[in-house]
Amino acid sequence: QTAWLNGEWQPLEAARVSPLDRGFLFGDGVYEVIPVYERRVFAFKPHLQRLKHSLEATGIPNPHTDEEWEALCNSLVERHPWTDQYLYIQVTRGVQPKRDHLPQNCLVPTVFAYTSELKPMDEAVLQRGVRCITTQDIRWQRCDIKAITLLANVMMKLEAQRAGADDAILIRNGMVSEGTASNVMIVEGQSLVTPPLDHHLLGGITRQILLNCAPAIGLLPVEEPISIQRLYQADEIWLTSSTKEALPVVELDERSVGDGTPGPVWQAMRSHYQQEKQ
Ligand code: PDD
Repeated sequence: QTAWLNGEWQPLEAARVSPLDRGFLFGDGVYEVIPVYERRVFAFKPHLQRLKHSLEATGIPNPHTDEEWEALCNSLVERHPWTDQYLYIQVTRGVQPKRDHLPQNCLVPTVFAYTSELKPMDEAVLQRGVRCITTQDIRWQRCDIKAITLLANVMMKLEAQRAGADDAILIRNGMVSEGTASNVMIVEGQSLVTPPLDHHLLGGITRQILLNCAPAIGLLPVEEPISIQRLYQADEIWLTSSTKEALPVVELDERSVGDGTPGPVWQAMRSHYQQEKQ
């Protein structure tokens, strides 16, 4: 695997970043994960848009033009053999000789990018679906920023594991925000419902694509707050992300979701999404 680090290609194992990098010391950085299908970068524009949003919101200077970002993504794909991949791009505020919460304003952002093989979701998992718990969303108030600072997400994922579940659905003030690394959607009759965008959740690219696809399979896309009670009553619950696509949740807090198997609407969306990826 070849990685891009500060303007140079090098073997991933050989890439080195200073321990004084603010990403390492403060989690002071942002990232993107972009899927590649059939060797083509998928939904590049919205991913770039979101990266620019994260950079702007954090005041980290954007080190590249749109064209440079696109060329970087394409080179990553070209340098690796896999048909389907997921690109990881990270920009931190840079290396600062003196540790200080306040960033110096002359810093040069650290840009790191590499790619991995994107394997299809395990068929057994898709047949069975996943089990989730609900938990209090212990994160900050700017979850719209795709920050590398993921400690809370890690803790909530561990909590799910301790409870014998696969993942957690996060609840803030009685309302669903998202998953630990995904957005949450529910099926209610003929509606596909997901919480509206605000500072408590990430504007998922998969979320938007699925909302756009909804009418094609006879669903009404709805962006509405979802209370925990409404979540429990949903016909289907999905977790959505660039690496998971839509993943059916069949058990929530040890209660069955619907009949406890991946639902028919999820099946229909899954088939439709395979065309969307072309
Ligand atoms: N995470 N919400 C959170 C907190 C996420 O971390 C992600 C994705 C999403 C879904 O966004 P998208 O559909 O654009 O992938 C929502 C990536 C995949 C990750 O951290 O690996």
